[in-house]
Amino acid sequence: MLPLFTIFLIAVAVYASTPDRASNFPVSPDVAAQYECGSTCQENIQAASATDLEDFDMPFDFDFYTTAKNFSGSKPGDILKLQPVDPKLAKFPAGIAAYRFQYTSVDLDNSTIPATAFIAFPFVRQKDPFKLVAYAHGTSGVFRGCSPSTSSTFYDYDTWIPLSLAGYAVVGTDYAGLGNNYSAHKYISARVNANDVFWSTIAAQNAFPHSLSREWVSIGHSQGGGASWKLSEHKLVQKNQSGYLGGVAIAPNTRIYDAITQSVNMAAGLSSEDQQKMGSSGYIPSIYFALRAVYPNYTAPFLSTLAKKRFELGELAQLCAAALPAVVSDLGLAEIITSLDEDALSVVKEFQELNAPAQGDKASRPLLVIQGANDTTVFPSLTVKAYEQACEAGNRVRLSIYPGLEHSPLSGASAPQWLEFIDGLFEGRDLHNCSVETVSAFDLEYARTPAEDEL
Ligand SMILES: *[C@@H]1O[C@H](CO)[C@@H](O)[C@H](O)[C@H]1NC(C)=O
Ligand SMILES: *[C@@H]1O[C@H](CO)[C@@H](O)[C@H](O)[C@H]1NC(C)=O
Ligand SMILES: *[C@@H]1O[C@H](CO)[C@@H](O)[C@H](O)[C@H]1NC(C)=O
Ligand SMILES: *[C@@H]1O[C@H](CO)[C@@H](O)[C@H](O)[C@H]1NC(C)=O
Ligand SMILES: *[C@@H]1O[C@H](CO)[C@@H](O)[C@H](O)[C@H]1NC(C)=O
Ligand SMILES: *[C@@H]1O[C@H](CO)[C@@H](O)[C@H](O)[C@H]1NC(C)=O
Ligand SMILES: *[C@@H]1O[C@H](CO)[C@@H](O)[C@H](O)[C@H]1NC(C)=O
Repeated sequence: MLPLFTIFLIAVAVYASTPDRASNFPVSPDVAAQYECGSTCQENIQAASATDLEDFDMPFDFDFYTTAKNFSGSKPGDILKLQPVDPKLAKFPAGIAAYRFQYTSVDLDNSTIPATAFIAFPFVRQKDPFKLVAYAHGTSGVFRGCSPSTSSTFYDYDTWIPLSLAGYAVVGTDYAGLGNNYSAHKYISARVNANDVFWSTIAAQNAFPHSLSREWVSIGHSQGGGASWKLSEHKLVQKNQSGYLGGVAIAPNTRIYDAITQSVNMAAGLSSEDQQKMGSSGYIPSIYFALRAVYPNYTAPFLSTLAKKRFELGELAQLCAAALPAVVSDLGLAEIITSLDEDALSVVKEFQELNAPAQGDKASRPLLVIQGANDTTVFPSLTVKAYEQACEAGNRVRLSIYPGLEHSPLSGASAPQWLEFIDGLFEGRDLHNCSVETVSAFDLEYARTPAEDEL
């Protein structure tokens, strides 16, 4: 009953909603006006919300996502709830059987925290257990209703489905704070997102002890690329007995302070329309919530008062990845970021030091890093820098650069390479050293290389 009551409160604040919706609540003109969001701003939000609602389209199961009664006293990797996903509501390929589960993970301060995840099995039962891959998703949003496990494709964009079609069992965490809302989601806090990936694997193995391999590999894109990379340096996967064989990081978010400063420098000479086309502009609202989730009292002095007001509207309406950026898409970058001085950004720097992978930590297993040369969200220069630092630490990292490709199309375009790499890890092949290559496109002129806003 509590969830319904809460929806009612939100509905009063915004308006008309449905009892099984947990994101992208409609915003009335009156409410929008209170947040200095005029008609252009409202139209932008409405248009982008339609995209989010197509993604997060299954009825939000408030009962399932509510913190389990036996969470308190549980230990990391425990299964708290497990339920099949209704195949009639799913839109992933036929034959796949999927489940949602709630499990216990570990928060930034090492306390336990509930999180939710999906696990997907290929159709045919095998003699041997399914080889297990842990998938770490890219930005889906920062609020609870933006959880991949409530999307009818589990928020696939040629990310986890290729693994399923190749015969792997795939466990995909929502990350703590998405789905379950015991605490706010710590967006791009790779240190804690990596915990969620690790413990989702253990929990899945606990739930299906005979059906999943003990050995496993992790893969992630964007936010999840950072989590997968950070996981490779996690204490818990350095020992052979963890079963961890290695990882893949696609267009990984690594250094957020460096990304913000570089993004502002790159945008300086551009028209405000071209600034909006840069993928990175769309992430500022999410970064604001990322910082606030880790430093609750942080006021983000590098952002304008107007921008922060609009972000609050995004929170009120619980907008997911497509619509949250729309709250400021009518503003130029200079109207959003008002200061880049050291003091204003010191907390962002601290966040980076806390979370970025490739700061000297050792990784015992190989990592494949894949980067699009035309990525305007995760800049190639930052990925190259992280690669170099990981190699200096003695880690075995292979970096592959894909010409012409933007941030999101990279995952599908590079699938043959990561599928082969993962196969090699399970076969015990490919204990490579550091190397960089730029792959050669078959026909770059005629290959489909959509811009980030044309997807
Ligand atoms: C989580 O959501 C429920 C229902 O939507 C609400 O009652 C509760 O206050 C939220 N919890 C937190 C910690 O925000
Ligand atoms: C929590 O409760 C569920 C359902 O009652 C049960 O299946 C699960 O094993 C329990 N988990 C723990 C860690 O006690
Ligand atoms: C959490 O645990 C890790 C590993 O034991 C330790 O390195 C870290 O300092 C702990 N963090 C906190 C905030 O206690
Ligand atoms: C881990 O150790 C086991 C037993 O010693 C061995 O069979 C297995 O090949 C090792 N796995 C890796 C990834 O080295
Ligand atoms: C945040 O502010 C509250 C209220 O002002 C204070 O009680 C709390 O200690 C602060 N928390 C941190 C982490 O500084
Ligand atoms: C990628 O970027 C390069 C260099 O800026 C540019 O020449 C090229 O046209 C871009 N490719 C695509 C497919 O956008
Ligand atoms: C990696 O480098 C080490 C030390 O230089 C060398 O012994 C090893 O053969 C190399 N491995 C591969 C797969 O190239």
